[in-house]
Amino acid sequence: MAKQNKFFISTPIYYVNDKPHIGHAYTTVAADVLARWHRERGEKIFLSVGTDEHGLKIQQKAQVAGKEPQVFVDEISQQFKALWNKLNIKYDGFLRTTDEKHRQAVQNVLQTLFEKGAVYKGVYKGLYCVGCEQFLHEKDLVEGKCPDHGQEPEMVEEESYLLKMTEKQQELIKKIESREFQILPEHYEKEVLSFLKGQELQDASVSRQNVSWGVPLPFDEKHTTYVWVDAFLNYLTVLGWDGKSQVPALWPPHVQLVGKDILRVHATIWPIILMHLEIPLPKKLVVHGHILSGGKKMSKTLGNIISVEEVLEKFGVDGTRYLLLAAGTFGRDVDVTMERLTEKYNADLANGLGNLVSRVIKINAKLKVKNGKEKVSEELEKTLSGLQLNSHLEKIWDKIEWANKYIEQNKLWELVKKDEPKAKKILQELLNALFSISRWLIPFLPETAKKVGQILEKNESEILFARVK
Ligand code: MSP
Repeated sequence: MAKQNKFFISTPIYYVNDKPHIGHAYTTVAADVLARWHRERGEKIFLSVGTDEHGLKIQQKAQVAGKEPQVFVDEISQQFKALWNKLNIKYDGFLRTTDEKHRQAVQNVLQTLFEKGAVYKGVYKGLYCVGCEQFLHEKDLVEGKCPDHGQEPEMVEEESYLLKMTEKQQELIKKIESREFQILPEHYEKEVLSFLKGQELQDASVSRQNVSWGVPLPFDEKHTTYVWVDAFLNYLTVLGWDGKSQVPALWPPHVQLVGKDILRVHATIWPIILMHLEIPLPKKLVVHGHILSGGKKMSKTLGNIISVEEVLEKFGVDGTRYLLLAAGTFGRDVDVTMERLTEKYNADLANGLGNLVSRVIKINAKLKVKNGKEKVSEELEKTLSGLQLNSHLEKIWDKIEWANKYIEQNKLWELVKKDEPKAKKILQELLNALFSISRWLIPFLPETAKKVGQILEKNESEILFARVK
């Protein structure tokens, strides 16, 4: 693959109606892994994260907490920052939508869209789900309720500003089909295309009346922009864009990571806003599934929430990063339970990697073979550039398993006494393998990779991952 000299990866910006949870950590760790991988290759990288702080849901939550909305969002936004620091997320920009510069840029964009006639005043009638902060279609509902929030949406009919969608529909389909705007994995691309080809897009509501916690429309202050326009623009304002000048040089993003629940809006409203503004579309929209707990969506009512603090406490930072990405297929839903995470931690990290390092180093204490260097495998490069994060980890663990078996099959600890030259040869191979493994682990388990490197350097054993109960 040719070297790119700049690379922009974005994560969604998270609602601050509640503290961060494991689903948020999943997207953000995945984005951080990609970013670190590019950084390792010497590419210039910008990873953006942030918090989505306006809208009815947050306004209502602040009220219940008896706090001013700004005070409330300051606190929660801070919790996201603290969690990213803890999880060793190396981000380059953290955008908060309540930031004054961002709000100004949003107003500039809305003014432009209005002047172009892409946004016009109308009436929007539809089913509004406050949980999604989105208008839903009748056919999205399950037994009359929003499938994601289990609530009946409210029928709203009100004056609203609308974004013209239909006139861009065919052009959007072409951009997706030609992969100018690529949606990955492919099953999500199919889903979007069948949606786009199956019906005429309705013009999208971009403002609401009577929601004071938002960005007022510059041409009609009775309205505040409906959360998504405000939120989407974070991807540009995080780079310092003011909403009217030329877009920053880092634009467009190479990868925008999103969960499947926000795929539709990211594959319709978002690119259409950009098309109206004549701004290039992101190159890739990479979609992941949800983390389920015991087969079900996590919810307070079901009492099956897996707290990110608990996971961090038990498995540590690198353990958590590993378990999140190794738990299932990237792009599909991933079902976890604390029991399964514990088993995987013990099998892969304590026994697999930890054991390998300590055995190799212990045996080498006598032989003192120099640690070797091996070329980075091209096959592995392919799985990462194809964003198959869990398959990538599986390949690394295949190598770990191979090495552990190799030690056993050759009864290396006995061979050292019986046939030193042969033992040395095998040890050299193992050290080479460990060196490669430590390099491949850098984006995923940065601290562990560093530690393994140091252990190899000093040839002194150290416990990497202790078994947990
Ligand atoms: N604020 C909007 C996004 C605006 S981006 C311009 C939003 N926020 S959110 O906090 O509700 O969700 C943000 C992301 O977290 C989404 O990508 C969503 O898929 C992801 N997750 C929320 N719950 C999740 C799981 N249980 N598992 C994995 N990811 C999940 O939507």
